[in-house]
Amino acid sequence: MSITKFAVAGATGRLGRHVVDILTERGHRVVPMSRATGVDVITGEGLAEALTGAEVIIDVASWHSSDQDAATEFFRTSARNLQEYGQKAEVAQITMASIIGVDKATAGFLAAKKVHEELLLSGPIPVRILRAAQFHEFVGQLLEWQQGDVAYIPALPTQLVACRTVAEELVDLALDSAAPAPGTPVPEIAGPRQETMAEAARLLGARRGIEVVGVDGSGMPDAEIAAAGGFLPGPHAKLAGPTFEEWLDTRP
Ligand SMILES: NC(=O)c1ccc[n+]([C@@H]2O[C@H](COP(=O)([O-])OP(=O)(O)OC[C@H]3O[C@@H](n4cnc5c(N)ncnc54)[C@H](OP(=O)(O)O)[C@@H]3O)[C@@H](O)[C@H]2O)c1
Repeated sequence: MSITKFAVAGATGRLGRHVVDILTERGHRVVPMSRATGVDVITGEGLAEALTGAEVIIDVASWHSSDQDAATEFFRTSARNLQEYGQKAEVAQITMASIIGVDKATAGFLAAKKVHEELLLSGPIPVRILRAAQFHEFVGQLLEWQQGDVAYIPALPTQLVACRTVAEELVDLALDSAAPAPGTPVPEIAGPRQETMAEAARLLGARRGIEVVGVDGSGMPDAEIAAAGGFLPGPHAKLAGPTFEEWLDTRP
């Protein structure tokens, strides 16, 4: 197996740390990029140095809140910088993590991710995209955003997937040099079980002493599309465990 040098944008995040672990376990060279490692994909600080000699960028950097305008601005700038600095460094490929449903989204964070995909694809370096379902690890963040002993979580269908599972698939895609055949749908990865976000949050809430109340999600961006299952994985999606409950049982 040949050894590839990867630069991972968002290396310290929920997904990014698994990407770094898997690349390292497989013997590849990894440059972790995040503000914590002195690399800023927005200001460009440290980016040229980090990309020197890199063959592939894996882009899993993210904006920290669901605000559509702020997230769009973040992804617009990061996409432009990764393409520009990457081209100068002669990077051969960018692989990015996106979210299942961005093609149907009209608002909110998913719409910002749609812009992220489009702008990365419009640059000179070839781009591979993996769309993932919401992460098991995201459920805890939903509870933390609300604070207090009661959390109101949308009872909208989802098919949660573990970050480690997504990271494995993302690394496989980044190492796949064969261009996809024309018309091939964007690859998707999701967990094996459909449930509502409120059901999953209830399992975690029970461990943390938080009562979870399921709500209908009205007021959320594209709630009607979500309620109709529009953001669930398509028929071509790869489904892989663990389920949310199995994953939770492995947590300390
Ligand atoms: N969360 C989900 O359920 C979900 C589902 C499907 C797909 N995705 C996608 O997966 C990707 C990763 O999501 P995540 O949940 O792992 O994100 P996350 O935990 O919020 O991590 C974000 C990462 O981006 C880095 N970052 C933020 N601003 C930066 C900047 N200016 N320059 C360099 N690095 C910066 C952060 O590190 P520093 O703070 O140190 O800079 C961190 O490493 C995103 O593209 C997201 O849209 C997420």
